[in-house]
Amino acid sequence: MDTERIVRTFVEYYEERGHRRITGSTLLPPPGDPVLFTTSGMHPLIPYLEGRPHPLGRRLVDVQRCLRTTDLEEVGDPTHLTVFEMLGTWSLGDYDGRQSLEWGYGLLTEGFGVDPGLLHATAFGGDERSGPDTDSLELWHSRGVPVELTVEDNWWPGDSPGPCGPDSEIFLWTGDGPPESTPTRDARWVEVWNHVMMSHRRLPDGSLVPLRRRNVDTGLGLERLAALLQGRTSVFECDVFEPWRRLVPGLWPVDEP
Ligand code: SER
Repeated sequence: MDTERIVRTFVEYYEERGHRRITGSTLLPPPGDPVLFTTSGMHPLIPYLEGRPHPLGRRLVDVQRCLRTTDLEEVGDPTHLTVFEMLGTWSLGDYDGRQSLEWGYGLLTEGFGVDPGLLHATAFGGDERSGPDTDSLELWHSRGVPVELTVEDNWWPGDSPGPCGPDSEIFLWTGDGPPESTPTRDARWVEVWNHVMMSHRRLPDGSLVPLRRRNVDTGLGLERLAALLQGRTSVFECDVFEPWRRLVPGLWPVDEP
């Protein structure tokens, strides 16, 4: 499945479930924004996640170009790019995290044809901020998907101000043999999709206050999913980079500094 079809399948799946497509923002946020680049699909939506009504309603879907300065050290490994496209969905005070995961599981397995036996999830195990994410746990148990509970890895974002909450991440097994171990212990589990149950807002002093209205924010890296669906071992081998792989080596031999 090429990236164009992945995007179409994703957007249509959510449109059929009442989501309206919004246009992705520019990579450079407006002056005064605290980040240098648009880091995620949710970043341009922060005012709406904090309570402002969105003109297109409470269910949104989009494709957002992102650059994460926090990920730059990872670029060059098989799963990170300097700039990538994030497929995103939002429930602005509408459906809950369990529904979001149920649709996510349905799209991955039926829409994209992923073998359910190659999936693993993680979920928030609970601490003083919030109890364990039992809704996500129940959903994953009902689908027969193994779940690993963590605390720090399952609260998004970790410590920056703004809307945040427990998340449940979906991983896909990329090893040669049958799946083994868990996502935090074996890097052959590759994260494909993050579903954040936005329940709190972190203030600049680090304290957390509950949001008046809970949201769900999800993000799925397009090139990473494409590489996995296309049976490639690296994001650089997915169809997006095919023209560069074909043209660049003739113009700039790769072994030249
Ligand atoms: N905001 C979350 C992330 O970027 C989910 O979209 O991972």
